[in-house]
Amino acid sequence: MTTGAKHILMAAGFDDAQDVFNLIKKYPEELVPRSISDIVQNIDRFIVCKIDGHLVGVVSWQILPEIGAPKSPTVEIKSLAVEKEHQRKGIGTELVLTVMQRIALFHPAQIIILTFSPEFFAKLGFEKVPKETLMHKIYLGCANCTKYDSPFTCPEIAMAKQPPFPKTDGLT
Ligand SMILES: CC(C)(COP(=O)(O)OP(=O)(O)OC[C@H]1O[C@@H](n2cnc3c(N)ncnc32)[C@H](O)[C@@H]1OP(=O)(O)O)[C@@H](O)C(=O)NCCC(=O)NCCS
Repeated sequence: MTTGAKHILMAAGFDDAQDVFNLIKKYPEELVPRSISDIVQNIDRFIVCKIDGHLVGVVSWQILPEIGAPKSPTVEIKSLAVEKEHQRKGIGTELVLTVMQRIALFHPAQIIILTFSPEFFAKLGFEKVPKETLMHKIYLGCANCTKYDSPFTCPEIAMAKQPPFPKTDGLT
């Protein structure tokens, strides 16, 4: 757990699911919607940020499928959102640094993100990669996308970061 001046990062609990759902829904352009059921079933893969008990930020991750013998899978950062009135205070950065530390415990080959905010992730060490290098993501998520007819015409930018991942005072 990490504490800032006014905000606290923590692992999400079931009682956060409704607020997580509501926050993700506020960004229909930037984020893939997630059902309450999906959030509840994956609650152990969410980190939330609260101020005075109120949820102001969220991030989650997903391990992408491997084809063949398990080696060192790719992990995707998903559902990153900060309430508008709390943006540009470093909360998004802290959520990503903390989730990277959490993911690093699994020793992934890389952490990836599909985003409309490449400048934000570039500051955190992510680099643009061709979508063709992320076929496991494309098969898992993009194949079912209802927003764009092809992952290759989708305007989201694919980015990746390889180890070492930054250390923070985040979750242990
Ligand atoms: C992207 C998001 C999570 C950033 O959260 P945040 O708490 O505002 O981020 P930070 O305060 O840590 O920002 C750190 C720096 O990243 C950059 N940055 C922040 N948001 C950015 C954005 N949307 N686009 C480009 N750069 C951005 C800025 O340079 C900022 O530093 P500055 O405030 O000194 O200029 C937030 O804008 C958000 O929730 N957006 C809507 C949902 C979304 O796009 N999620 C990401 C999907 S991959």
